[in-house]
Amino acid sequence: MKHSRAAVLLACCTSACSGFDRQSAVDPAGPQAESIEHLFVFMVVIAVVVYIAVIGATIAIIRRRKATDEDPRSPSREASAARAIKLAIGVVVPVLFVLLVYDFSVGRSVNAMTNTPMLTVELTGHRWWWEVQYEDPIPQNRVRTANEMHIPVGRPVNVKLASHDVIHSFWVPNLAGKKDLIPGHVNEVIIQADKPGVYRAQCAEFCGAQHANMSMMVVAESPERFSKWIASQRQVPAPPVDTLAARGQTVFEGGQCAMCHAVASTRAAASIGPDLTHVASRLTIAAGTLKNTTANLGGWIVDPQGIKPGVDMPSNALSPTDLRALLAYLRTLQ
Ligand code: CUA
Repeated sequence: MKHSRAAVLLACCTSACSGFDRQSAVDPAGPQAESIEHLFVFMVVIAVVVYIAVIGATIAIIRRRKATDEDPRSPSREASAARAIKLAIGVVVPVLFVLLVYDFSVGRSVNAMTNTPMLTVELTGHRWWWEVQYEDPIPQNRVRTANEMHIPVGRPVNVKLASHDVIHSFWVPNLAGKKDLIPGHVNEVIIQADKPGVYRAQCAEFCGAQHANMSMMVVAESPERFSKWIASQRQVPAPPVDTLAARGQTVFEGGQCAMCHAVASTRAAASIGPDLTHVASRLTIAAGTLKNTTANLGGWIVDPQGIKPGVDMPSNALSPTDLRALLAYLRTLQ
């Protein structure tokens, strides 16, 4: 894969710097993003040519005017200006038309349906996290997760976009363009990754205080690994055998956690916050804000407002033993 200098530079500037993810519109990893990158490069080239032409014309006009101002036979300033305007319109309008046609054709092609059977994922935006559900004709095969979307490489994925509250926008720069998540309306965007990797998605529509911390990981993996992942997500976690983790489950079900979160086959079945059935298998917590480590998870449970001010999750004043038990339990949710 060719990596242009601009791609490398922009990839460095725009990545979340968390080390394992990529986020760059000029480093496409799929056909949709590739055609958008071609459009971008084409527009930049045209813009540079137009810029150079404008600067060149300005210099030429200034020089000519100096010479003609002293010549009584030269045409008037008004006549020269009218001629320049006609010339500019004659050049600018066709150029804009070409850009417009190219832009429309890319817009149509990235949304064109393909013959390959598509995987359909329902993505719902919440302030400030992403709810991810995999459609399946068999209800118990549906998979529900949060802030992380796994997709098989080489296969188009139809992402149905909805919002629980305000307008959000789904953007995985390496895979596709932006598409809004609008309350009361379902939008669709097709994404496809041809190379395995972790691609960072970002909410691209200002949606409140923690808009910048509303990100998601799109994990593109081989079809075999993807099938394994889906199968593991369908599994109901076994009850903890470890006594500390078992105590943690009691803390989880009996405390504040269960009021907002769900874990399959437990008494926790709320859907206000992310489903935590397989939370330990995820790369990040708090919608891409922190890496999913035990220390980060502990800090997040105790003081979410310190990490993401304004988030719905309240602080949890747990005793050190209860916190340790809760963390031990959450770690079992693979
Ligand atoms: Cu959601 Cu910005």
